Amino acid sequence: LRILAVTSEAFPLAKTGGLGDAVSGLSMSVQEGGAQVTLLLPAYPSTMSHVSQVSVVSVLDGLPGGDATLLSAYCPELGLPVLLLKNDALYERAGYYVDPDGIEYADNALRFAALSHGAARIAQGLEGIPRPHIVHAHDWHTALTPLLMHQMKVTDIRTVLTLHNVAFQGVFPMANADALGIAPQYRTDEGMEYWGQLNFLKAGIRYADLITVVSHNYAREILTPRFGCGLEGVLATRSSDIISIPNGIDTKLWNPQADPYLRGRPFSADHLSNKALCKSDLQRSFGLVENPRATVMAMGSRLTSQKMADLAANAIPMALDAHTDLQVCIMGMGDHALEARLSQLVGRYPGRCSVSIGFEEARAHLLHAGADMLLHGSRFEPFGLTPLYSMRYGTIPVASRVGGMADTIVDPGAGQAAGAMHAATGVLFDGESTDDMVRAIARAMGLRSYPAIWRAMQMNGMRADFSWAKTAPAYLSAYQSLCPAVGLERI
Ligand code: ADP
Ligand code: GLC
Repeated sequence: LRILAVTSEAFPLAKTGGLGDAVSGLSMSVQEGGAQVTLLLPAYPSTMSHVSQVSVVSVLDGLPGGDATLLSAYCPELGLPVLLLKNDALYERAGYYVDPDGIEYADNALRFAALSHGAARIAQGLEGIPRPHIVHAHDWHTALTPLLMHQMKVTDIRTVLTLHNVAFQGVFPMANADALGIAPQYRTDEGMEYWGQLNFLKAGIRYADLITVVSHNYAREILTPRFGCGLEGVLATRSSDIISIPNGIDTKLWNPQADPYLRGRPFSADHLSNKALCKSDLQRSFGLVENPRATVMAMGSRLTSQKMADLAANAIPMALDAHTDLQVCIMGMGDHALEARLSQLVGRYPGRCSVSIGFEEARAHLLHAGADMLLHGSRFEPFGLTPLYSMRYGTIPVASRVGGMADTIVDPGAGQAAGAMHAATGVLFDGESTDDMVRAIARAMGLRSYPAIWRAMQMNGMRADFSWAKTAPAYLSAYQSLCPAVGLERI
């Protein structure tokens, strides 16, 4: 069964957030399950250092943004073949979606329409590349693909669209339609028109054969106005073709027993003692006072309103004032105004609050390993990989009860002691006010004052199985249900 996975991100080729992790994890695991996966991404500068055996397959003329070259390559880190769409005028940039000042590139519609056209051409048939049985598109960047395949009358290949985040839709002026190669009959409400504009995600929702959502709870939420972001009605028309398949995490990459970033300090649920050494490393490396008795609360996410970074900027000083043994360690980047507000806290709480603007994979591992808890507020969270990474390292998440986090994190509930010993793995909170977040931090600090309860929660989280191996069979059976005549063997 040949799958062409079309995506803007796949770690380590390109990543700005969980999309990159999820696409790679799921592609590798379905490949292990017997499908044959090829990735298609733009040839960003970051992709080139992670691929070998690069050769030119074809020149695709007349794509939005100009002719592009299709490169064939192999990514040894993923163990997967990769196709790269090369058009330097579109993709040879410092950022993936925004410039260094955080401004969206003005030609993002062209950049991602070109990628979807590339996918549709491959589906149609190009010399030198076997046609896939299924084209699997991820998020708005590639959601135009099913519509373009329909427009090009490629009817013998099935399409899947995975929704990682419905809040990002790719909405652009209708006047772009010609340049994006969208035929007039699709410029209506039955097609991809959305309040007079073009909506890439809507195109995918309308035309994909199957739509998958990255958690059970988010699949329910997006049918409501609060989380559907205007697409709840269109999604409802496809409800019988929507299934939810929760993400997994890469348990080889995120493994406290063999993590190359932890400088010889492996630990596990049964042997936790090295976690204390990771905590000292973290305190030293992030400029916090090296105090083993302090409680370190980490935050490692995009600093945006989705991640409640605005509330965190209010709640963290209140929590630092209320709990004198608390330290806070933040690493992330995003909204420049929010970055600045959080950075101001460093001077106010020297040695107790550290803020690193930017993102480094190595330091993210130390952050999850060395911290005691992870603050992860979200206004919406389709899945939420970060809290799962932290749980695997015995770091208790304090998170919003939304999206996938409501499925993956177990709160001890009202009977805290008994609940925590039994199954709890974290603290969940409702609401979007500073007080809601401050109260949740206080509740976590309360639980932390009972070492046996805390330890039980750490064990529960570290022993939970969130591996892709557990979740991949659902994708494989979804693929097979679309192509019942094709076996899984690699042909
Ligand atoms: P989202 O995809 O919404 O950002 P997830 O928690 O599912 O949320 O995934 C976040 C992933 O991105 C994690 O692998 C995390 O380590 C990483 N990450 C967090 N902040 C950044 C950032 N500023 N730049 C790059 N990667 C980041
Ligand atoms: C998106 C979501 C996040 C999810 C990730 C991977 O970026 O915001 O919740 O975990 O995609 O599916």
